[in-house]
Amino acid sequence: MSKFYITTPIYYVNSRPHLGHLYTTLVADTVTRYKRQRGYETFFLTGTDEHGQNIERAAEKAGLPVKEHVDRIVAEFQEMFHRFHLGYDHWIRTTDEYHKQGVAELWRRVKANGHIYKGQYEGWYCVACNGFLSEDETLPGPGDIPICKTHERPLDRLAEESYFFRLSAFQEKLLEYYEAHPDFIRPESRRNEVLSFVRGGLNDLSVSRVSVKWGIPVPDDPKHTMYVWFDALTNYITAIGYGNEQRGGNAQFEKLWPADLQLVGKDILRFHAIYWPAFLLAGGLEPPKTVFAHGFWLSGGRKMSKTLGNVIDLNTLRRHFMPDAIRYFCLREMVFGHDGDFTYEALIDRVNADLADGLGNLSSRTLTMINRFCEGVIPIAGAGSEELTAQAKEVRLAIEQATSEFDREFDGCNFSRAIEAAQAAIARVDKFISDSKPWNLAKDPALRGSLDLVLLTSVLALRRLAAILAPVLPESSQAIWAQLGESGEVATVVPSALGWEQPAGQKIGEVKPIFPKLDRKKVMDDIKQEENAQNSPAGETVVVPDTAPLETPAVAEPAPGIAYITIDDFAKVELRAGEIKTAERVPKADKLLRMTIDLGEAEPRQILAGIAQYYEPEKLVGRKVIVVANLAPRKLRGMESQGMVLAAAVGEEGRPILAGFLEDVPNGAKLR
Ligand code: MSP
Repeated sequence: MSKFYITTPIYYVNSRPHLGHLYTTLVADTVTRYKRQRGYETFFLTGTDEHGQNIERAAEKAGLPVKEHVDRIVAEFQEMFHRFHLGYDHWIRTTDEYHKQGVAELWRRVKANGHIYKGQYEGWYCVACNGFLSEDETLPGPGDIPICKTHERPLDRLAEESYFFRLSAFQEKLLEYYEAHPDFIRPESRRNEVLSFVRGGLNDLSVSRVSVKWGIPVPDDPKHTMYVWFDALTNYITAIGYGNEQRGGNAQFEKLWPADLQLVGKDILRFHAIYWPAFLLAGGLEPPKTVFAHGFWLSGGRKMSKTLGNVIDLNTLRRHFMPDAIRYFCLREMVFGHDGDFTYEALIDRVNADLADGLGNLSSRTLTMINRFCEGVIPIAGAGSEELTAQAKEVRLAIEQATSEFDREFDGCNFSRAIEAAQAAIARVDKFISDSKPWNLAKDPALRGSLDLVLLTSVLALRRLAAILAPVLPESSQAIWAQLGESGEVATVVPSALGWEQPAGQKIGEVKPIFPKLDRKKVMDDIKQEENAQNSPAGETVVVPDTAPLETPAVAEPAPGIAYITIDDFAKVELRAGEIKTAERVPKADKLLRMTIDLGEAEPRQILAGIAQYYEPEKLVGRKVIVVANLAPRKLRGMESQGMVLAAAVGEEGRPILAGFLEDVPNGAKLR
């Protein structure tokens, strides 16, 4: 059995998961499913990059020990990927012991081979990039202090003792390697960029810091901490046993390395296309087969940024759209390797046009006709009219072509073209049904043969399409598969091996809509409302409960079994706006904050709330919140709480996020 080893970058834990992280993982998940379906033994690696100054600082800011801080963010990443139904074989953390061992091993080898030496480094350092920057990565700044092009922040001039990797010695070797392995860097345009950069000459690379403590110590010289990229890049081999037994040792490494496909964003291609093969060659190891750099998601044609307010929030995305719809959009909309534009409007339109009106409609009209005209049993191939027989043959040919085109494009990482091929086939089958009008054929028993021919052809085409699209639409394809009366997992069926006769006589399953149409206006109104709430002065508040179900169906549906209350019931709850005047932790109670809140009454009220793990008390002072003012007072830790503050419970752990207002409100204002 052939192996297929695929990786994503490991994600920094100094920010929360965003669309960029989701995207690469989603692509890797799809490619893994595609390969597995075709009989490969796949291994899909993703994980987190947890060392470096930035992360140390982020933890400091959060007021937590670094390890505790990173553990929390890692859990958030994993939960997020889980909510989007993304699977992986292993999640590496650079703080894992086996990884540290493996990195130290590579370091020793590279050093023993004479490619690491000690020296003095001085340069312009960007804390956000975690590295010294070359001239073309900076812009002139005030007072002769350059600024980082990416982060637009002033740089620090640093000089320190450092170990250096002899990158300059690899210029020729790399160029030879690129020449001999034309598929090493993809796409072609990015390959050319890297080639011209390397031809311009390479400087030695500083690979350790004495100023950074949060990282892997340099073997035999622990006052030095390894430079983040030496540590981070090596994850791709330590995760499969390089330099450690825990992950399978040499046997596993020999089996899986070199990686078949390493997916990265365009911003980190240089590290993967220059440093990474150089480190590997210096350690006597083979570089990966392909590093593919994808483009960036923009939003409304502009870079996503908090200031522009165009960041796609993953919670909002998941709340309104099912994983299959999101996967489909990401893979169809972005030409892999180029930038793409992500807007909710485009996502809705795409889902409605391609999935609801396209595949979903084809599936429901075909299966409904099997129920109506054939009592739910797939007919035996009928002898149709000459014209229909010719058309059916054409349809089969179109499906066969789409099958091979899909594979060809997918193998070339042209996901959007692969999907286009499947869409063209869907349109072809749809046209066949519309042209042949089975509903008319059904009126005349003499035309039974033609009717059966049309329906069987459509069913078989649909079956093939479900198999083709299974890596892209895993849940909906499986649903179609089951509705066709097929057993087992479509994910294991090789599309090209599916014949054109088998299921005649097979009873179909229960027919249910696969992709209900989305109401564009309603979905957009809901999203806007949530976004407004998030941008409220109460901070990054999500006031809508996180109700997205973990399992299908393909489009979000209202939660069943809502227990309605009357307006009179609601009127019993007295909700008032209040201002937090003081806030402090309660000794020996980790979760509790004691606040005094001004509700426009003679005295502020004392209210206790279990939010201490998520809010720093000093930052709460002055904030406007919503209080249940007529809740019977109760005692907590011996203190009376005279009301309750409202917060959304987010995620599985129920993280509280305080509710607030967009506009200023007087203290005590009543909420209705
Ligand atoms: N930790 C490094 C990678 C080390 S790999 C050995 C890192 N982490 S990251 O969290 O900052 O970025 C992870 C990935 O997200 C990168 O591939 C980056 O290109 C990608 N994206 C960040 N923003 C993006 C978009 N707006 N769109 C698509 N991908 C983008 O870099």
